[in-house]
Amino acid sequence: MIVGVHRSACAVGAKGFRALGRTVLAGILATLCAAAWAGPSPDKLLIEKCGACHQEGKALQRITTMRKSPEGWDMTIVRMGIWHKVEVSKSERKTLVKYLADRQGLAPEESAPYRFLLERRPNAQDVAPSEDLAQMCGRCHSFGRVALQRRDVAEWRKLVHTHVGQFPSVEYSNMGRDRNWFDLALGDVAPKLAKLYPQRTAAWSKWQQARHVAPSGTWRVAGSRPGWGGYSGYMVVRALGADRYDVKYDLQYDAGNHVVGQGDAIVYTGYEWRGSAKLGNQEVRSVFALGGDGKRMSGRWFLRDADEIGASFEAVRSDAVPADTVVAVSPALLKAGTTTVVRVSGVKLGTQFDFGPDVAVQKVERVSPDEVQLSVAVAAGAAPGWRQIGRGAGAQVALYRQIDAIRVEPEFAHARLGGGTTAPVSAQFEAIAFCNGADGKEIRLGPVHATWGVDNFDARAKADDDVKFAGAMEPHGQFLPAFAGPNPARNNLNNVGDLAVQATVADGDRTVAGSGRLVVSVQRWNTPPLR
Ligand code: HEC
Ligand code: HEC
Repeated sequence: MIVGVHRSACAVGAKGFRALGRTVLAGILATLCAAAWAGPSPDKLLIEKCGACHQEGKALQRITTMRKSPEGWDMTIVRMGIWHKVEVSKSERKTLVKYLADRQGLAPEESAPYRFLLERRPNAQDVAPSEDLAQMCGRCHSFGRVALQRRDVAEWRKLVHTHVGQFPSVEYSNMGRDRNWFDLALGDVAPKLAKLYPQRTAAWSKWQQARHVAPSGTWRVAGSRPGWGGYSGYMVVRALGADRYDVKYDLQYDAGNHVVGQGDAIVYTGYEWRGSAKLGNQEVRSVFALGGDGKRMSGRWFLRDADEIGASFEAVRSDAVPADTVVAVSPALLKAGTTTVVRVSGVKLGTQFDFGPDVAVQKVERVSPDEVQLSVAVAAGAAPGWRQIGRGAGAQVALYRQIDAIRVEPEFAHARLGGGTTAPVSAQFEAIAFCNGADGKEIRLGPVHATWGVDNFDARAKADDDVKFAGAMEPHGQFLPAFAGPNPARNNLNNVGDLAVQATVADGDRTVAGSGRLVVSVQRWNTPPLR
């Protein structure tokens, strides 16, 4: 459907077709555009779809009295469909989410502490302001789901009523039956939430009045995909109108692979970038936040069908940052007593970089206006630690004499079995190298290549031989879980497991090892965008 396409895009599209002499297609497109614009405007659509139950006089009760992230609005509209049989088509849903998130969204600083949830970072640790709030409101879903909404006390109380009405088990499940959950939620929690997450804030008023910069232009990007390694490249964004964009990606991984991609994106609330693209042969989604007066973008992209697999993303707009801004140095870990060829990527780079004492740049080779290659010799006695070599957050290298420790990240991971129509949830590990600084403090160097293994975690796991049934570790540190049981080959136990994860890293002729833990549990049945 074309509902929501900007009028000018329709006009340009129709003209383009005419220019090609394809008058029939042009006619169809023109008709579709006309039909799209004959449809109700978003505010009318809201009344048409939602007014029957929510309208009281001129107000839309319960709708205009809260603010949420785009995902929060989307989940509520989907819930209206499931609980209250509200029929909303896919394109109407998009239109309504855009309309509501723009008018009743969160300011950038309001969503900042919980971006890990929006970005669907796997194995992230949820955060709650206090233990009692965590127990009351963060034990069935993340506390982040709560903290990404803004309401006054009456609206928080209505949400408590909704919970008790829909999930009576809230009162007799664990951490509900040991207290008077309902009274506490109404009397104690709702006022606390209204104070922490109020409907009206200075941050939101300010953001509503701010001029929002469109992300059109060429972006210099860099990031790291656990299991694949670092990358840098370009993102070219072209406006289609109505905060919708066409996007092209061109990424060069440090490991050598070159990936191009194309897709689209919508910007909600003036900064919440949500994109979808085909990168190489993979369908991906992106969740970025536009910041720094439209000069920066950061976030995470992940596989559409397996959001635990993804990459960090940092970008600067080429025409908005000063020349000489570095986005990535690869490799960024330089061993004392060795000479390394280093690729520096950025915007209109010069050839002068200051690596500090005991480091000599022996050769400089220009690859392109945005990229230079340096031959860097680090003296054996160079002091370990991170050094800023130029302008930009990416302009950093770490010197080390030896790797003193390896930590597996995540230290504790959760994977889930697949089965039937439910996809497995894998776990991607990274081996993070550390060295000891001159002051005896540990310095985090970053991910390094490792050889991976798994074993039974303890005697219990050994008795059931979990390692044999729970799945397999791939060479790049991704654990692929097995399919769900019951498995006759293991006394009808499910294929769950409790595993120790081992990473072994070669550092010259030494080897350094680290370990983590992985619990492989039952399928994930529910995959809401905010858990
Ligand atoms: C058939 C009746 C009906 C229609 C139509 C309806 N709703 Fe609701 N809505 C409800 C009821 C009942 C509740 C209170 C219980 C609940 O939260 O599900 C509610 C609650 C809400 C809330 C408050 C939820 C919260 O977070 O506490 C929002 C927001 C909302 N609806 C949005 C919408 C939107 C947007 C539409 C139109 C797409 C819509 N509703 C259409 C019945 C309806
Ligand atoms: C017994 C488990 C449980 C507890 C405890 C619980 N919730 Fe929920 N909550 C749910 C479930 C299940 C949903 C999802 C409903 C859906 O979208 O289908 C939900 C949804 C929500 C939503 C999204 C609703 C929307 O439409 O935007 C918010 C916000 C929320 N809960 C806040 C809270 C707060 C605040 C508390 C503490 C007072 C709390 N929850 C405690 C189970 C729980």
